[in-house]
Amino acid sequence: MSRKPIIAIDGPSAAGKGTLARRLAAEFGLPYLDTGLLYRAVGRRVLDAGEDPSDADAATRAAQALQPEDTQRDDLRGPAADAASSMVAAIPSVRAALLAFQRNFAAANGAVLDGRDIGTVIFPDATAKLFITASPVERAHRRWLELQQKGTPADLTTVQADMQARDERDSKRGAAPLTAAADAFVLDTTNLDADAAFAAAVAAVKTRLRG
Ligand code: CDP
Repeated sequence: MSRKPIIAIDGPSAAGKGTLARRLAAEFGLPYLDTGLLYRAVGRRVLDAGEDPSDADAATRAAQALQPEDTQRDDLRGPAADAASSMVAAIPSVRAALLAFQRNFAAANGAVLDGRDIGTVIFPDATAKLFITASPVERAHRRWLELQQKGTPADLTTVQADMQARDERDSKRGAAPLTAAADAFVLDTTNLDADAAFAAAVAAVKTRLRG
């Protein structure tokens, strides 16, 4: 019996991971987990408690108390939630508290998971690993457009600066920093639309599934 496939999708903000991961999950008939929501929900709990997201004790308590329904909240995005998520994500005990949930999610039926450390830490033996990236200017522009479409227009320069600060925090932290696994297929979507990125990703996953 071959094991159920686990497809790990990592990369920086607004590179197109979420859209791609959702479509891959539908294509291969696998459950999908957006792991960023876990860190966002922890950050939100800390903010709600009036505590500091970089306070390790407060963030760890919030991670240990996390309930699945916390990830369904509609206030997990926006500048404060974005920054809080990457602050709590830098704390090793927060990451440790969220590890089992992510592994259990894929245990029965396999899964597509997107995040920052899926191919490096959560599932180093994943069946297929994709690292999705795009230029910082393109990513900031995509996030800015997303905000416009949601009816929460923002200043492009501010979006770009916030994203750069988060990229740096995510890449430079000691615990599970954002980096491509050595065996990941790296897909730069700067000049690809969603359909072209999807086609390239499906081809890469099929190659790994055959391997
Ligand atoms: O949607 P976007 O790509 O902007 O962010 P996200 O995937 O929702 O992740 C929010 C934050 O959670 C990131 O900036 C990371 O700091 C953290 N994160 C992480 O550390 N590890 C993951 N597997 C997923 C997210």
